[in-house]
Amino acid sequence: MSVVSFSKQGNIGLISIDNPPVNALSQAVRAGLRDAVAQGLADESVAALVLWCEGRTFIAGADIREFGKPMQPPDLPAVTKSMEDARKPIIAAIHGTALGGGLEVALACHFRIALPTAKVGLPEVKLGIIPGCGGTQRLPRLIGVKGALDMIVSGEHVAATKAHVLGVIDEIVEGDLKAQAIAYAQRLAAERRAPRRVSEARAKTESPGFFDEYRKSIAKKSRGFLAPFRAIDAVQAAAELPFDAGMKREREIFAELVASPQSKAQRHVFFAEREVAKIPGLPPDVKPRDVKSVGIIGAGTMGGGIAMCFANAGLPVKLLEMNRENLERGLNTIRKNYANTVSKGSLKQEEMDQRMALLAPTLSYDDFKDVDLVIEAAFEDMGIKKEIFAKLDAVCKPGAVLASNTSYLDINEIAASTKRAGDVMGMHFFSPANVMKLLENVRGAKTAPDVYATAMEVGKKIRKVPVLVGVCHGFVGNRMLAKRSRECGFMLEEGALPQQIDKVLYDFGFPMGPFAVSDLAGLDVGWRNRKSIFDKLSPREQANNILDQICDLGRYGQKTGAGFYKYDEKRNPTPDPLIEELIIKHSRERGIARRRVGDQEILERALYSMINEGARILAEGIAARPLDIDIVWIYGYGFPVYRGGPMFYADQIGLKTIYEAILKYQKQVGEEYWRPAPLLEKLAKQGKGFYSEA
Ligand code: 3HC
Repeated sequence: MSVVSFSKQGNIGLISIDNPPVNALSQAVRAGLRDAVAQGLADESVAALVLWCEGRTFIAGADIREFGKPMQPPDLPAVTKSMEDARKPIIAAIHGTALGGGLEVALACHFRIALPTAKVGLPEVKLGIIPGCGGTQRLPRLIGVKGALDMIVSGEHVAATKAHVLGVIDEIVEGDLKAQAIAYAQRLAAERRAPRRVSEARAKTESPGFFDEYRKSIAKKSRGFLAPFRAIDAVQAAAELPFDAGMKREREIFAELVASPQSKAQRHVFFAEREVAKIPGLPPDVKPRDVKSVGIIGAGTMGGGIAMCFANAGLPVKLLEMNRENLERGLNTIRKNYANTVSKGSLKQEEMDQRMALLAPTLSYDDFKDVDLVIEAAFEDMGIKKEIFAKLDAVCKPGAVLASNTSYLDINEIAASTKRAGDVMGMHFFSPANVMKLLENVRGAKTAPDVYATAMEVGKKIRKVPVLVGVCHGFVGNRMLAKRSRECGFMLEEGALPQQIDKVLYDFGFPMGPFAVSDLAGLDVGWRNRKSIFDKLSPREQANNILDQICDLGRYGQKTGAGFYKYDEKRNPTPDPLIEELIIKHSRERGIARRRVGDQEILERALYSMINEGARILAEGIAARPLDIDIVWIYGYGFPVYRGGPMFYADQIGLKTIYEAILKYQKQVGEEYWRPAPLLEKLAKQGKGFYSEA
């Protein structure tokens, strides 16, 4: 069966694309489209053509899997040129999503109609590229430079109804799209309407300086990314050059970006995001359990945020606290959060009311007897957790999934406090839980497959990116983070200052440096954790008590107006000479001669320490694949998307280079801190990467 077919309905030629799952423009589709258009044009009995797609969507773009491989003809610009140049009108009939190359094909058609549920967009920047088939040249000619830039630079999908107002879509139709499109084409044919070519229009030039202003307006949000800025260059070409010259410019920029490391990384993330949801080795007959109601223990910052996630997804939540006061406080915080969103116009008052109505406060475990899933978000203390799980075991119905939101503690030990370890697992949310996308789902040694399948399914339902990991101290994210924190702490005593380390990691692409993050999270959090594991720390780690000294001064970070930095009333940080003095004094007292720690050393020690730990995590099976680790770091810790995550980044640097650096730091910092992970060593010696092993 061909992926593109041509048929006739009276005097209308119907071109149908059928290339599941998303009708991507693979080589076969491009060739089929070219041939079908030629057939329709050659047939004298055909007055107009309709392009429509089978299945769930219109063309969702170029076939991303073909990027980075040699181009197989015909190329898309040639196909779309033949469509736009056609002497008979072509109508694109859009349902689902017309994205990227899909919208570009539609823009090369002469008319566009869509169902109200459809969406259109040019999301190429999210893959580190720009539209490569006239999107940057036709869209500004069709809807104006500003509207086109907003769509292309953000990459966001736009609802068909809005696209209609913008002028992308000519008509919104209801009901049977194919029949409507044929009727539309018949009307055009009857009226003898000539093809309307977008390329013949002019992109209205905006005021002088407009493009520079636009660049400035995205500077902060798009920091580090190449594609959004290059997209502006391409749209500027549409405003300043004739169509053909603009197309050439667009193609050059597209080719340059497709070959860039950023695009390679962003394409990797696109597929990793989808792959991460698939659980390796899960038997196909395992079905997730039904989750229609949820119980949450603890209405503090975490519990409250988690409750919001479920209410946002329309699920009723029973929210349990130890006393009325905590409960009131928790509910008030949730109410305030929602009210804030309402005041910004991103949520309607009725929606807020509906969500609040889904939250049922309670002081009694008995109210949990019918819920399908419980998430415990109480204090991080094993004794408390065990008590709670024993109570849940006594109260909850058989088959309820019992999850802990712990960020460090041993899920197996928690599970052992129940008689149903198979139903117990970790569901580790990240703060603020209603905002952060990552959900680390932790399966214990005895967790039943349908239980962790349920947690993955629930994660998707509440619009998180769930990643399945195994049990160890800190799981994937915090375990790797601990290594980075240790090295950053060491570098402070050796000669670096917080602002230098923060700048290096900020410039690498993290939204904030590690010390600024600690100030944001509250230094008391890390301090408490340090105290709880103090006996397990090495003598050097124990003696490196800069954090203790800062906390002893009552400086807990942003919330107290000072931590590693001092903060003004708007919470803007400035380096504090007092902290610099404290650190220098600390080094002196510890007998460490301070030296200039270079930026490259900072970067390597911060990142390679994490990557080395990532290799151990992989070898131990705590993460099933390198992509699980990459997704944890991108969605939980702000690892720059355009670097693909720590394991992908490691492969780009080369494991041999990293291995050699580890040996160098082993000599410099100490054997106990810098021992190459056996997997990393093995791959480095074989000249392989984490992904070549996968
Ligand atoms: N190329 C190749 N495969 C694609 C693809 C594409 N453009 N879009 C989706 N897929 C694959 C996914 O990898 C997934 O594969 P899997 O089942 O093996 O995991 C499958 O199609 C289904 O995708 P989703 O799971 O994402 O399905 P959803 O229904 O949730 O979402 C979608 C559908 C909104 C279309 C989403 O897939 C999407 O956003 N796709 C990418 C759209 C895009 O970026 N288009 C631009 C491409 S670049 C381009 O066109 C360049 C041009 O300017 C020349």
